[in-house]
Amino acid sequence: MFLYNSALKEVVTKVDILNDEFVHIHNYNPIEYTKSRIKTPESIVKKLKRNGFESSIENMINHINDIAGVRIVCSFTSDIYLLSEMIGKQNDLTVVSVKDYIRHPKESGYKSFHMLVTVPIFLSDRVVDTKVEIQIRTIGMDFWASLEHKIYYKFEGHAPEYISRDLRACAAIVSEMDAKMLQLNEAIVEAKAQQEEEKAQQEEEKTDGKHH
Ligand code: GTP
Ligand code: MG
Repeated sequence: MFLYNSALKEVVTKVDILNDEFVHIHNYNPIEYTKSRIKTPESIVKKLKRNGFESSIENMINHINDIAGVRIVCSFTSDIYLLSEMIGKQNDLTVVSVKDYIRHPKESGYKSFHMLVTVPIFLSDRVVDTKVEIQIRTIGMDFWASLEHKIYYKFEGHAPEYISRDLRACAAIVSEMDAKMLQLNEAIVEAKAQQEEEKAQQEEEKTDGKHH
């Protein structure tokens, strides 16, 4: 647990630095918030059992990939790909696998971008590559997933079909809103740039007028 905790700290710091750099250079904050957590021993044992493994440290290390988990919540879908690319480029991180549930949503309607990475943890006498699961999603996707998770737990995975259907419909509405918000943001950026250009032109005309 000490290793997973250390790995979590490393990844959270890396993500923070990427965000700060972005704010510094582009004056833009791609991350709304991040959450991180360590899986509880109870939940690790439960998951091992569910997947048909005995409870042992070895099985835990080899078969549970989400003991350390970081969730990055972004404003727009485009930020997700931007961030995943920046994370992938970090030299001391190894990307083990990627699951794009945005291009390929789950049957439930779930959307998110998942990356399984390992971080080297430097101990006094050795280096241990430690797994961290990173989930990147928009506020909308996070909103949907939180609610769906609660419902799933209430019914222990056996929700009535009309409820699952309505949840999938909600996922579609969320996706539509994400797309609209992205369009809106692009339109805002464009309109702002145009305004600034017009303002600069007016200033120029004013000074030109003085010279004549
Ligand atoms: P798990 O055994 O659940 O960890 O799934 P997996 O090993 O197939 O990995 P996957 O990348 O598909 O999902 C990992 C995590 O994504 C889960 O622990 C959840 O946090 C989240 N997730 C995946 N599917 C769903 C879903 O249908 N609804 C919600 N709310 N979350 C999901
Ligand atoms: Mg999980």
